[in-house]
Amino acid sequence: MNKQNILIAGAGGAVGKHLVEHLSGEHSLSLLTRSRTTFSSDSQASSNRIVEANVLNTSTLRGACEGVHTVISTVGASLDLRAMSDKRSFMEVDLQGNLNLLEEAKRSGVQRFVYLSAFGAESMPTAYTNAHEAFVRHLKASGLEYGIVRPTGFFYVNLEFLGMAKSGIASVIGNGKARTNPIHEADVAKACAEAALKQGNLEMNIGGPETFTRQEIAELAFAALGKKPRVMNIPAFIPTLMKPLVSPFNRRIGDLVEFLAYVATHECVAPVYGEKRLGDYFRVHC
Ligand SMILES: NC(=O)c1ccc[n+]([C@@H]2O[C@H](COP(=O)([O-])OP(=O)(O)OC[C@H]3O[C@@H](n4cnc5c(N)ncnc54)[C@H](OP(=O)(O)O)[C@@H]3O)[C@@H](O)[C@H]2O)c1
Repeated sequence: MNKQNILIAGAGGAVGKHLVEHLSGEHSLSLLTRSRTTFSSDSQASSNRIVEANVLNTSTLRGACEGVHTVISTVGASLDLRAMSDKRSFMEVDLQGNLNLLEEAKRSGVQRFVYLSAFGAESMPTAYTNAHEAFVRHLKASGLEYGIVRPTGFFYVNLEFLGMAKSGIASVIGNGKARTNPIHEADVAKACAEAALKQGNLEMNIGGPETFTRQEIAELAFAALGKKPRVMNIPAFIPTLMKPLVSPFNRRIGDLVEFLAYVATHECVAPVYGEKRLGDYFRVHC
């Protein structure tokens, strides 16, 4: 494998940090973050070039892609409900931020751009997935070689169930029967690295090795704690009604609630790619 110059945007995020681990040593990496303190205690990451830039501020992006062959972007507004004090919407960060990065990549002669969207996003009627796929359309029209990775939900999102199980009762939106195969962040990073190192345009739909109903994921969290499951079902219309109430104050929370209500009530099963198991992940995080 030839050594490549790769810029990882979102390098300090859940997938990004696994990407750094996966590609370090073999390739010459530039790690884009809004603050270099993200990597202050990460010796492996800090041995790479750090690019401090905010994708929403184009002047900070100048020079970020100089000498870079491939950009991998995992930049996106956080899905973590604890990070919602940053109210910027998915359209602002996932679409406009990545468009700014794409422009800078083109200006610097980058040849390949890998982007992380979400499984099923092409046909989901939600603002979050629309933002991802709007960017994908721009990327496909950009003239750069592209790789698009569309994973199911990451394991860490399901830690919400573990938290609820610890408190004694978990809630599931809808009847809990819709199935999905969540995937470990490290397996997603492996797919992004694969998409970066291949040639030609490609799209990868990926999920984890096990398929569960939402109800079974909640029960798995109780099992990891050795507790008897207690699961409450929340009618799906409740989060759907919440979107117009919440959005005027925080659009991102409104869009996230809409997305969560949709995926919790629709089948979301992707071709198996990941190898890591959710039960093991829960046990490590107990
Ligand atoms: N979670 C899921 O289940 C799931 C499923 C499918 C797809 N996805 C998508 O996968 C992508 C990555 O997810 P993740 O869980 O790894 O996200 P994450 O942990 O929240 O990381 C996102 C990264 O984006 C960067 N970022 C955000 N705003 C930025 C800005 N204005 N300028 C520069 N960088 C910025 C952050 O960098 P710094 O904080 O270091 O600046 C962070 O490292 C997202 O687009 C997400 O929508 C997620």
